[in-house]
Amino acid sequence: MTRRSGRLTPELHDYIVAHGTGPDDLLRELAAETAERFGDSAGMQIGPEQGTFMTLLARVAGARDAVEVGTFTGYSSICLARGIRGRMLCCDVSEEWTSVARRYWERAGLSDRIELRLGPALETLRGLPGDTRFDLAFIDADKGGYVGYWEELVPRVRPGGVLLADNTLWSYEVADESRQDEAVRAIRAFNGHAARDARVELVILPIGDGLTMARRLE
Ligand SMILES: C[S@@+](CC[C@H](N)C(=O)[O-])C[C@H]1O[C@@H](n2cnc3c(N)ncnc32)[C@H](O)[C@@H]1O
Repeated sequence: MTRRSGRLTPELHDYIVAHGTGPDDLLRELAAETAERFGDSAGMQIGPEQGTFMTLLARVAGARDAVEVGTFTGYSSICLARGIRGRMLCCDVSEEWTSVARRYWERAGLSDRIELRLGPALETLRGLPGDTRFDLAFIDADKGGYVGYWEELVPRVRPGGVLLADNTLWSYEVADESRQDEAVRAIRAFNGHAARDARVELVILPIGDGLTMARRLE
């Protein structure tokens, strides 16, 4: 079972995917190419039901502009870009992985609405003009960086806008104190930080590897 399907059996995961919308042929091809070329790293990609959820959420929220921290080969960015009405900023450090994303953005007809910034995302976010605002933000990069990304992004998300953070159940091990590796500790620190943040209301959804969904308060 991959980490992104959490504790679901493969049969139940397949059932959920089969009884929801999408993914379309392009996303299937992207997932297949990522798996073939990048092996275990492909496990970093969000799953198909999470992608559908994020597209729907962006549409229901009526989101215009979005930002993503951690783009990899582009699966989540395509799901979000299809759901928003405006532009998307993608942040990543890997030229190799995002070159795949660029190719699929082109094929999806999204290239003119997505801007990629290569470099450490914290620097990218800190370098944005002071008045840059988003309706939706998705955090899915290095786990030790989550608190920093959150602190940069909460003020930049408009009141009523949405913040998402991926992997916040971390293989569903986050509540198991016998697990003490660096990543799970970073996720615990982030979850505590976000839960105490009075600027948002939030819930951790047991979808994929755990997805925190927060709404910026007025
Ligand atoms: C979990 S993957 C993102 C998966 C992607 N959201 C998807 O669904 O396909 C994490 C990505 O974060 C990027 N990353 C890691 N550290 C980073 C940093 N400091 N700044 C920007 N991106 C970073 C990695 O290069 C990798 O592509």
